[in-house]
Amino acid sequence: METIHLENSRGRPKAPNPEQVELKFSDQAVQELEALLTHYPDKKSAILPTLWIAQREYGGYLPPEAIAEVAVRLQRSYAEIEGVATFYTMYHVGHPVGRHLIEVCTCLTCQVCGAYRIAERLKAKLGIDFGETTEDGVFTLEEVECLDACDRAPVLQVSDAYIGPVDEAEIDALIEKLRSDPGSGTIRLADEIVKAQLHANEQRDIR
Ligand code: FES
Repeated sequence: METIHLENSRGRPKAPNPEQVELKFSDQAVQELEALLTHYPDKKSAILPTLWIAQREYGGYLPPEAIAEVAVRLQRSYAEIEGVATFYTMYHVGHPVGRHLIEVCTCLTCQVCGAYRIAERLKAKLGIDFGETTEDGVFTLEEVECLDACDRAPVLQVSDAYIGPVDEAEIDALIEKLRSDPGSGTIRLADEIVKAQLHANEQRDIR
């Protein structure tokens, strides 16, 4: 298999040649996809859940090879799958995110309740800014809009969990707890979403 060059001259991940796409989904992922497809009128309708499978299978993000695999498996174009994936912020397209993704809501309610103080504490503790990943690949820090948990402001989303109201004094302990967690929260979140989708379909079958 020829090496796929991930960046073009403008730094944007380069689409693999369809002829060179290596399918990497595990047997479990293939079975999940087949089960999902039985619930959609056509393959195009399954783009979002298939992207979640891909995000889990490719380590918590969607490199060009993952986009290409989804395109091949759903018989759509690379551009169409990439267009969908880049529209939604919960898909991490092109570049890896840390084992733990910490999202800080800075929308109005959280802002009034001290979100920026929390953010500054996190930045100082991790040595990174919003949109960056620590050198050891453990943490990515993002600023996000309202997480729909304003009653818990200021609130963080840490991969698959909401934490709030959070206090500056809790940040150090939170970071240490996450650092000692060898699992990947970003992969876990993708897996939980895939399982929830499959479960929802099973419930529809029972009714
Ligand atoms: S403003 Fe932060 S969760 Fe709504």
